[in-house]
Amino acid sequence: MLRIAVMVSGGGTNLQAIIDGISDKNITNTEIAVVISNNANAFALKRAENAGIDAVCISPKDYPDRSLFNEALLNKVQEYNVDLIVLAGFLVVIPEAMIDVYENRIINIHPSLIPSFCGTGYYGLKVHEAALRRGVKLSGATVHFVDKGTDTGPIILQKAVEVLEDDTPEILQQRIMEQAEWQIMPRAIDMIANGKVSVENGKVIITD
Ligand code: GAR
Repeated sequence: MLRIAVMVSGGGTNLQAIIDGISDKNITNTEIAVVISNNANAFALKRAENAGIDAVCISPKDYPDRSLFNEALLNKVQEYNVDLIVLAGFLVVIPEAMIDVYENRIINIHPSLIPSFCGTGYYGLKVHEAALRRGVKLSGATVHFVDKGTDTGPIILQKAVEVLEDDTPEILQQRIMEQAEWQIMPRAIDMIANGKVSVENGKVIITD
């Protein structure tokens, strides 16, 4: 059984897709050990509580400096003895020490087709604003392993979504969530839980 920690900052629709995926058995061999938010007001924490999952807030505001916050985050994940850390809209830079301990065991969902519209400063609606500004006809989402760069780790799954003429950033965000994020994040977790994903020479290999 793959024990996962899901880290969130906001609404938690990707978390909900994971919770639903486990109960619908689209994700097998997986349990959510804990949901961790940096934001005490994140609706994602409510979603976790409603599903009977431990929900914890670790906020940088509660620590005198960043290194103590980073340490608390790592300690919490280790306390729950998890096999995989899932970043589902977690808008905090992951401490390097955590990446060292959990090499190729942290995944992230990003709301574009990496390497477009990613890296420092590209998160949430900003990604969709940039895509519309550039006038791309396709965008989408990417699930990738987290390395020490920003959105640079090995890509696990991607799904393209059409951009339409009258899209606003909010409309495009919603379509990408529905048609891509809520599908590829659960699928990636299920594949990892069932031993189908490995990393070789910085690239993901998927076996059936
Ligand atoms: C999602 O669109 C996710 O892809 C994005 O934040 C949103 C969180 O929504 N993540 C990033 O931009 C990371 N760079 P949710 O809380 O409803 O899952």
